[in-house]
Amino acid sequence: MRVIVPLPGNEVFARDLSAAGGWELGAIETRRFPDGETYVRLRDDVTDKRVDLVCTLGAPDDGFLRLIFAADAARALGAREVTLIAPYLAYMRQDRRFQPGEAISSRSFARLISSSFDRLITVDPHLHRYPALSALYTIPAETLHAAPLLADWIADHVEMPLLIGPDEESEQWVSVIAERIGAPFTVLKKIRHGDRSVDIDLPDLGPWRDRQPVLADDIASSGRTLIDAARKLALQGFAKPVCAVVHGVFAEDSYERLQALSARIVSCDSIPHPSNAIGLAPLIASALASRHARAEALVRHRRPPEPLDEVERAGVDSFPASDPPPWTGG
Ligand code: R5P
Repeated sequence: MRVIVPLPGNEVFARDLSAAGGWELGAIETRRFPDGETYVRLRDDVTDKRVDLVCTLGAPDDGFLRLIFAADAARALGAREVTLIAPYLAYMRQDRRFQPGEAISSRSFARLISSSFDRLITVDPHLHRYPALSALYTIPAETLHAAPLLADWIADHVEMPLLIGPDEESEQWVSVIAERIGAPFTVLKKIRHGDRSVDIDLPDLGPWRDRQPVLADDIASSGRTLIDAARKLALQGFAKPVCAVVHGVFAEDSYERLQALSARIVSCDSIPHPSNAIGLAPLIASALASRHARAEALVRHRRPPEPLDEVERAGVDSFPASDPPPWTGG
């Protein structure tokens, strides 16, 4: 038995996932105590079930503790396996110490996730200097790819596309998309000067000027990569580009700025955003279903469910945690 449980903000994705796979949809209750600490309660019986916690990590710092608390609760309550379904996986880009003294947050984050979950499923994590998630994560981590979905969207919505990858790293996505839809592609060169400062070198793309440019990338974060590429295309007299990304973080005012330079912006629904046009739930559902078929061979990678201790069995601490303890009489 499998139950799909959304963390706050992931209800739509979890509903789509449970519908795609025909699995039970669970619920979680979470709130802040007056002192700012986090309360988490699983609303379903998870005993002996596979529990999939759905949590995009688009703004990871705010909800991270409740995610860990939910995973620990599921395990302690007897879940057979606890999987993190993170359509967008955070903390992948600080993958080395660029300046002396910096934290390599990708490693710390992976260690924390690996110590609370049995498995991780995600879509197109930003693997640049790491060859695979297994270089970071000590639990089985499955990487799914959205490029075919982006390709199908482009084939259905854009006539005469010219695929453009804004930097060398994007070649892996752009080349797959271009091949799938039989369109030409080119990859630009980017120099990053800072978090919000990039410079893109656009060669003369004159021979393709009659085509509709499509900028495709894995992630729009500060948006500066796509904004500068779109700006440079305009300088060469191209039509406004269509921008297609897997993960639309679109920090600060980047979406509005990019909109002014683009014909259309689309993203996958790995992070809820107005640009979402491509659903990832069927992709993840089919990965879960095929894994489910092999699941009997799996062993838990971490500790077994914890037995209820004497205090809990006696019901002494079963009062709602923000209410007065029963022994106060209040
Ligand atoms: C390259 O490193 C990535 O593929 C993206 O191009 C990059 O992360 C986008 O970042 P931003 O939107 O902040 O320019």
